[in-house]
Order: sequence, then C-alpha cells, then structure tokens
Amino acid sequence: MNDKAHFIPKIEGNVVSSFQTKWSAPSNIALIKYWGKKELQIPCNPSVSFTLDQCRTTTSLRFQRIMDKQDHVSLSIRYEGNPAPYFEPKVKTFIDRILPYAPYLRDYKIQIDTVNSFPHSSGIASSASAMATLAAAIMDLEKQIYPSLAAEDRIKKCSFLARLGSGSAARSVEGPLVLWGKHTASPNSSDLYGVRWTKAADVFKTYRDTILLVDKGQKEVSSTVGHNLMHNHPFAENRFAQAKARYRDLLTILEMGDMDGFSDLVELEALSLHAMMLTSSPYYILMHPNTIQIIQEVRRYRKTTGLHLTFTLDAGANVHLLYPAHEAEKVDQFIASDLRKYCQDNELIYDRVGTGLKKV
Ligand code: PMV
Repeated sequence: MNDKAHFIPKIEGNVVSSFQTKWSAPSNIALIKYWGKKELQIPCNPSVSFTLDQCRTTTSLRFQRIMDKQDHVSLSIRYEGNPAPYFEPKVKTFIDRILPYAPYLRDYKIQIDTVNSFPHSSGIASSASAMATLAAAIMDLEKQIYPSLAAEDRIKKCSFLARLGSGSAARSVEGPLVLWGKHTASPNSSDLYGVRWTKAADVFKTYRDTILLVDKGQKEVSSTVGHNLMHNHPFAENRFAQAKARYRDLLTILEMGDMDGFSDLVELEALSLHAMMLTSSPYYILMHPNTIQIIQEVRRYRKTTGLHLTFTLDAGANVHLLYPAHEAEKVDQFIASDLRKYCQDNELIYDRVGTGLKKV
C-alpha cells in the first residue's frame, strides 16, 4: 500500500450529524533518527523508534455537522480548558493537508480540547503525540461514516494522517517499536505511514526512558527549519546512506537482544543527528554543557558497572536515558545521585516503552 490515493474515500458514506470522541497518544523517541525530508513529510531516510508511555497528549474532538460545505473547516481549540487560538494555525495547516483524504471534514464544525501529561514548556515536543490524537479522532469519525473499512487499513491511515501533521507523529500510533520509511529490510515498511515492529527481543520491550530536562525552554530550532537544513547540506547523502545502513544493523541488534550493540549504535546515531546540525549553514549547537556532562557520566557508568545505560538525544539539549527494567533499580539510584543535578530545576520525567494510542 504505497500509493496515497489508496487513502481517499471512494464510496458513499453514512450521514453522521454529531459525534464526540477522545484519544490519548504518547510521544516517541527515535533510535534511528529522521532528519531531512522531501515534500510533506516524506522522509529522506527510514527511522526506528520506541513508543513512549507516560508522556502523552489527550484530546477530545466534538464534530457538529453543518448544512453548507465550507472551503475551510471551522475550528475552536482549548488547551487545559482555556481558549488556545495560538494552536490554530498549526491545526488548520494539518486539516488543510488531510482534506483530500478526509473530505467529509468540510461538513463539520470541530471543537478540540487538549491536555498534555507533561508540561507544555518542558522542552519535550508534543507535536507527535498531539497530531496522533487528532488523526485518531478523525479516523473514529471516519469509522462512523464508512463502517466497512478494515481495522488494519484504519490504523495505517491514522498514521498516514498523523504524518501529514508532523513526520514523527506517524510513529506515535502503535508500539512498542515502530518503523517509518521504506527500507528493503522491512517489506511492509512505507514512507507514508509507520508500522509496528514486533520482532525485537523481549528485553527491549521492558526499556525505560528517563528524560533529563537539561533545558525546559522552547526548541531553539523548529523541526521545519531543521529538516530544511539538510537541503544542500554537504554531508546529506552520506548521512542518509548511513541511516539506512544503521537501520538494518539496529533491527539485527534488537532481534538478537544485543544490549551492548544497542548502546553503541543508538549513541552514535544521536551524535550523528547533532553532527548534522553542527555542520549545517547556519549551524546550531543544541547540546548544552550539562548535556555533555551527562553523556560523559553515562559512558563512565557503563564502563565501570557493565550495566546497559544508554543515552539518546532529540533535536535539543535534553537527554533520554534508555535501560532495561531489570537494571532499573541500580540505574535509577545513579540517576538520582549523579545525574539529576544537571537538570533544570532538578526536573526529569520517568517514562517507559509503551503501546501507542488509547481511546479514552
Ligand atoms: O517530526 P518532526 O518534524 O518534529 O521531526 C522529528 C525529528 C527528530 O525528532 C529530531 C528525529 C526523529 O526521528 O524523531
């Protein structure tokens, strides 16, 4: 199913006059990073992610059918119970992009109420979890209009729609591991949507992700600007080839339960993402001194204890610490005694690998 026309409804649907639905979706953390895109979130390389569990957005949508079809869908958005007009441009862009695949939205007025389980200004991107909840709610409306669509197709389309809002949102629909982007090593993979990957050894399904909030501020570089920096980047083609090769290696590591191989590859991948930003024009230094301190301490700890504490990074200063549940007692002590001090206001978030969307 690698043709986006597949997602355009082709049959006459039911008339649904009003509908309300509520969904909760987690954030995700990429192990093989997506950095660089072609038009509308078509990735330049495939990515692999852990779906998270605790960092979630919960959104309810109320659809009210109106008599006259509109060119633009009328929206109102509330965040934590208060009007949030500042979210409207992003959601409007998303709705405009998905209208060819969800033309029935033109018949509705939509009221959106959303909350995050993590602070809005924690430096943790909420666009992946937020877009996944919007896509899920819209697909729930679609289910009322076209009840005959197969469940498997509905999940794919949900990820497909979420991707049009924010690329990495394609990976927040399912869990515990998701592949997004076409790769010959995974015959069912697609550039258009994420697919759940179940072949990882069980130990990886127990992984914790403790997020050290080194900087709780807004992102220094938006992901749109960041992805665009890969156009004309002197290392772009090598980077895309590198990510493709590492994707294949990571799947083998995950299947074999090779936790040492996991640490080596995942850390190298995080630093490669930052290397792209350090060498783009203009360049960005997104790591802070405390990010580097944490990285050094994690490496030292792994060497002296033989435990499998591993770091990864997003496009920012915060550090995600990954480790298996059976090592969590010791690692959590180390985090509290030696790493927490590097966090802004001592703040961190305890998360773990999860399963994706939930209807509330
Ligand atoms: O989904 P976007 O456009 O916010 O891009 C996400 C990019 C990274 O978080 C840096 C990497 C990734 O694969 O999630």
